[in-house]
Amino acid sequence: MVTRVGCIGAGYVGGPTCAVIALKCPDIRVTVCDMNPTRIGQWNSDKLPVFEPGLDEIVQKCRGVNLFFTTDVVATIQESEVLFISVNTPTKTYGHGKGRAANLKYVESVAREIAKVARGNKIVVEKSTVPVKSAQSIADILKANRNSQNKFQVLSNPEFLAEGTAIEDLLNPDRILIGGEDSPDGWKAIETLSSVYKRWIPADRIITMNTWSSELSKLVANAFLAQRISAINAVSAVCEATGADVGQVALAVGKDSRIGPRFLQASVGFGGSCFQKDILNLVYICESLNLPEVAEFWLNVVSINDYQKQRFAKRIVNCLFNTVSGKRIAIMGFAFKKNTGDTRESAAIYVSAHLLEEGARLAVYDPKVEADQVTRDLNNVTGTPDVVRDQVEVCSDPYEAARGAHALVICTEWDVFQTLDYARIFAGMPKPAYVFDGRKILDHEKLTKIGFEVETIGKRVRNVSQSHPAAITNGAGSGDGATGLDSCEDATGPDSEMTL
Ligand code: NAI
Repeated sequence: MVTRVGCIGAGYVGGPTCAVIALKCPDIRVTVCDMNPTRIGQWNSDKLPVFEPGLDEIVQKCRGVNLFFTTDVVATIQESEVLFISVNTPTKTYGHGKGRAANLKYVESVAREIAKVARGNKIVVEKSTVPVKSAQSIADILKANRNSQNKFQVLSNPEFLAEGTAIEDLLNPDRILIGGEDSPDGWKAIETLSSVYKRWIPADRIITMNTWSSELSKLVANAFLAQRISAINAVSAVCEATGADVGQVALAVGKDSRIGPRFLQASVGFGGSCFQKDILNLVYICESLNLPEVAEFWLNVVSINDYQKQRFAKRIVNCLFNTVSGKRIAIMGFAFKKNTGDTRESAAIYVSAHLLEEGARLAVYDPKVEADQVTRDLNNVTGTPDVVRDQVEVCSDPYEAARGAHALVICTEWDVFQTLDYARIFAGMPKPAYVFDGRKILDHEKLTKIGFEVETIGKRVRNVSQSHPAAITNGAGSGDGATGLDSCEDATGPDSEMTL
């Protein structure tokens, strides 16, 4: 029976996963460690480093009872029978495989540390998302560096939680995947880890398989999810050009039981720390295996996502009479999705950077993202801290962000945006007042009745002014025809500049 579980990496995965293990297994002592003392300090405080609905309550209940957060990596390794590796595996930014391959330096350094300090036998569980055969590399490092008495079994146990619903996903997962060595010791290790999950998850949802299938399944699952988003987003461009409504198309397509309705919501594009990174990793693996056609197929999922963000950002500029220079624009939502404070790869960052480059002044509001995070992200992506300092204001109130703005740009689908007093907001904006709904969450009819010009993804909204001058310059008439350009379509070329 397992009595001590440890986890290296107290991030979005390590923290919530261990909190749920502690909740469901009160007799197991769960220790989460991280080399970052600030992060551990936050886990031990009232303001956790990760916002997830339901997480605070669990941490409050278990912390100091059977859940501990520490910077003491050595003690955590030595004390634990089952040891999760839950460190970050970002895309490499240098050297061979730059921009594609996963950077495994954190995983490797943890493996070396375990080999150096472990006492006794351990089950090492690869929870981080890694390329196929990483478990073998971990096992090789452990074997080459271990103290002769120690024995290790390495398992692959990828995490499928989604940020924003992490606790619900951990309490009630679709499946738990465990990959291990096909040997009596391997089976025993799989059974030991399964016994932890079986405390709250039905046995038929615990799938076991060989290590390589398990590692690859995680990458493929994310690639499939992202592929659905890119597929519907590609369709959204066709809808905008034809007058079809992507919501209606998604409804019709999703009713087919072979397809199903989920992940068919068109938007400004997917973000988050995982989809792009994991697909690029898959692309790199395919290229390394000399499978260029397969690599190209998956790469297109990322390309369409980039195209979608770019299309949306350009549409904002085009609609605002082809210039946003000096105009205040409210960025509503900065997290990559609702119910998280995580901004990694958020579409809002790309859209904001594009608008800054065009000279806009941005007022950013997000209920869960801190001001310094917004600044850091924009500094990183633009490389121009002066511009960010001069042109970006982070607001703590949505009405403050909207005041005086030429446009509201909905980048994150926070529920709170659906219940704002838009008549009040409209009154404080220069006219025409625009809403760009990148998440398709607002009541467009209501907004147009108030007087807003509404632009959204994959659908033409019948706006207050059915044609505005930009439509005339691009030669598309009223923009109301079945195949004509919408008034805000990309109007490139020398004639496209709007002259007021
Ligand atoms: P994160 O960046 O939030 O957390 C990783 C933590 O590991 C950091 O706090 C870092 O300080 C710590 N760390 C790195 N090296 C260390 C070392 N040698 N010793 C001690 N601590 C160390 O990352 P996140 O989001 O939790 O992701 C972890 C892994 O889980 C990644 O491989 C990711 O792809 C995967 N994953 C992430 C999901 C998500 O929604 N964020 C979902 C499913 C999988």
